[in-house]
Amino acid sequence: MTAVGPNTEALLTRRRNAVPRGPFHVTELFAARARGSRLIDADGQEYIDFTGGIGVQNLGHVPERVAAAIHAQVDQLMHSCFHVVMYEPYVALAEALNRITPGDFAKKTLLVNSGAEANENAVKIARVYTGRTGIIAFDHSFHGRTLLGMTLTGKTVPYKQGMGPFAPEVYHAPYPYPYHAPKGMTPAEYGRWCLERLELLMQTETSPDNVAAVIIEPVLGEGGFVVPPDGFLPGLQALCRRHGILLIADEIQTGFGRTGHLFASEHFGITPDLITLGKSLAAGMPLTAVVGRAEVMDAPSPGSLGGTYGGNPVACAAALAVIETFEKEPVLEQARHIGDVVARRFAAFRERFPIVGDARGVGPMQALELVTDRATRAPATAQAGAIMHECLEQGLLVMKAGMHNQVIRTLMPLTIREEDLERGLDILEAAITKVAGQT
Ligand SMILES: Cc1ncc(COP(=O)(O)O)c(C=O)c1O
Repeated sequence: MTAVGPNTEALLTRRRNAVPRGPFHVTELFAARARGSRLIDADGQEYIDFTGGIGVQNLGHVPERVAAAIHAQVDQLMHSCFHVVMYEPYVALAEALNRITPGDFAKKTLLVNSGAEANENAVKIARVYTGRTGIIAFDHSFHGRTLLGMTLTGKTVPYKQGMGPFAPEVYHAPYPYPYHAPKGMTPAEYGRWCLERLELLMQTETSPDNVAAVIIEPVLGEGGFVVPPDGFLPGLQALCRRHGILLIADEIQTGFGRTGHLFASEHFGITPDLITLGKSLAAGMPLTAVVGRAEVMDAPSPGSLGGTYGGNPVACAAALAVIETFEKEPVLEQARHIGDVVARRFAAFRERFPIVGDARGVGPMQALELVTDRATRAPATAQAGAIMHECLEQGLLVMKAGMHNQVIRTLMPLTIREEDLERGLDILEAAITKVAGQT
């Protein structure tokens, strides 16, 4: 890890003594303050931020409109509990999310506190509505760290190891991962093969009339920014409709402009029955949502959904300001521009560096998969770590992803200034050159 300054060193010691090992850290830095795409640590070091607090700062750190809305709301009401005395910002946010999410049908919205909790609630709602218990999730997926969240998650280490037994009636199907498609299969064939495996799963492990819902990330987030082949998600939606199974899109990482659309479902032309949202929804306030067909959302009886803090008014005010920003400012246009710039640079990296096996993504949700050997596509885990470390040394915060931590992903603010974007990409290119050499 980077040699840290004295303030950071002191904080690290306090952290080690007071906080368990479980919460992981991408860096050993402590943030003092941040604005836009820049973050300053406890020793005054400045960094360009390509992580956005894991995809939470799509509007940049401390976006003005959102900060002002938070300040205004704090002076009015910080908490009354929606279950005790209701307040308008919850209802206004539900109305806004019902309006802006894909699907030309009546919708309702439940607000909760974390991505895991949103996915838990989507499953509860789907089970009550369908009267079925089975849930199908996917390999490589990430849906959170609660019992059901980690049960849904399709990756054992570090999320699930030693944490069982897991919740029953959850099955995993293969997620089409084009870079690792079986030899000789085109992406389209691979997508169809994965759908056939899912159908088979419903004959070997459960049955279609036992399955309440299929939950899927339209683009894998923690799994490595894997983009499914064209036709896979529409095919999945058709399969679900054929069997009366609800389709849940986990857009917690892909939502709010990360793919250059407000929601990734729009990119793939699907209209999920339920969508879970989080991360950039409220620019850092702990707020997440389940948005879905009104009749589905209304299935659970009063008292079965909610919680003390769900839909906190300050967080709702922040989310309303986030939505207003997307509606009033050309954020999506900017997102697509960033996506083009990063995709172009990453394609050039792939040409230049043998270690870059794959460069992929949708809009600004771009990634590099690093391999030790282009023929075997074996993961270059250590090199990915070394590249990240070198980036940090040079003032760029960047994150990994993927089953083997072999993928470098970009979660920069969609409002990043052109010079920070180019400078960050230059640092990344220099880091790859230093660690892995070039052709
Ligand atoms: C797609 C996806 N779903 C769920 C989660 C879990 O969200 P949280 O950490 O807020 O529980 C995440 C977090 O990274 C995520 O990326």
